[in-house]
Amino acid sequence: TEEARKEVRVWCDGCYDMVHFGHANSLRQAKALGDYLVVGVHNDEEITRHKGPPVFTEQERYKMVRGIKWVDEVVEAAPYVTTLETLDKHNCDFCVHGDDITMTADGVDTYHLVKAAGRYREVQRTAGVSTTDLVGRMLLMTRQHFRQGDNEYSVDREPSKSMGQDRTARSPWTGCSQFLPTTQKIIQFSDGKSPQPGDKIVYVAGAFDLFHVGHLDFLEVAKKEGDYLIVGLHTDPAVNRYKCGNHPIMNLHERVLSVLACKYVNEVVIGAPYAVTRNLMEHFNVSIVCHGQTPIMPCDDGSDPYTEPKRQNKFKLLDSGNDMTTEKIVERIILHRLEF
Ligand code: CTP
Ligand code: C5P
Repeated sequence: TEEARKEVRVWCDGCYDMVHFGHANSLRQAKALGDYLVVGVHNDEEITRHKGPPVFTEQERYKMVRGIKWVDEVVEAAPYVTTLETLDKHNCDFCVHGDDITMTADGVDTYHLVKAAGRYREVQRTAGVSTTDLVGRMLLMTRQHFRQGDNEYSVDREPSKSMGQDRTARSPWTGCSQFLPTTQKIIQFSDGKSPQPGDKIVYVAGAFDLFHVGHLDFLEVAKKEGDYLIVGLHTDPAVNRYKCGNHPIMNLHERVLSVLACKYVNEVVIGAPYAVTRNLMEHFNVSIVCHGQTPIMPCDDGSDPYTEPKRQNKFKLLDSGNDMTTEKIVERIILHRLEF
């Protein structure tokens, strides 16, 4: 018989404003230190008091954290300074945070109490991604929008360097990130499960740039159409062809990790063909192909990318009930920047 072992409950907390795969990676590492992961998310008022207003509302931020597959529970409106009472109240053994110092408005380490009590563990921050970096990319992108008409601006511009050759991986159109994608990271993020016999396979494809709450709501409804959800991610040049300006803001590798971190996703096609082909549908044994309420951009030759699934009567339009878009996020950031 197996010896009964006490379940180890882990606590993490933060703002989780503009959730990115760096946050997801810290939660993945935290979960690996125990069995059950509780994540405390600060409310808008608390964040405003300590570091200025967040870009996303608390409701959006709570939902995004709940969407990450390593998270078992979200505690809303968690206090900025992590107290022992908080850990005890949620039965957590210790608190986990990335290896950067977080301070309150008064310059106090937010983890001084749990550190002193020996109930603190550290995980490695993911280099090359942060809210600041993403905001930088968005601002860079819009600045380039303002230069439209000027020769320096061109959608067809050569991506700065081909990925993989370059020391850095980044948005080919906006630069910045130092994130180094590896197969190891993909393996860590992947759940490694194949579909079971009889599983109904759902396929969706898109850019999924700056993975947001609209994507999350869409994937939730898409998952309900079957048992196993495959997300096809278009390549950077494909996304750039149909989204204007300097999209995508996150390169393909980064988008892969963001989508893999979502609890509804079972598998990702890294660089999916823009048109959903018969070959792809047969290969993955796809039962249904879905798209949300956003416009369906035509292929290079003007044809509908969903011609094949429509012909097979395997296409369905879904309603995520959420009108968030990557462009809206960029707009919010600009407004936010102007305010402060
Ligand atoms: N985190 C991480 N790697 C990153 C960014 C954040 O491991 N690239 C971790 C932080 O160390 C923290 C958790 O994510 O443990 C949530 O912290 P939060 O306060 O939301 O994040 P920030 O540190 O403010 O992240 P960012 O700079 O991206 O806003
Ligand atoms: O725009 P993008 O290619 O990232 O969208 C991927 C998928 O998510 C599309 O099917 C789109 O219609 C859907 N979506 C949605 N609701 C949103 C944003 C995207 O249903 N708010």
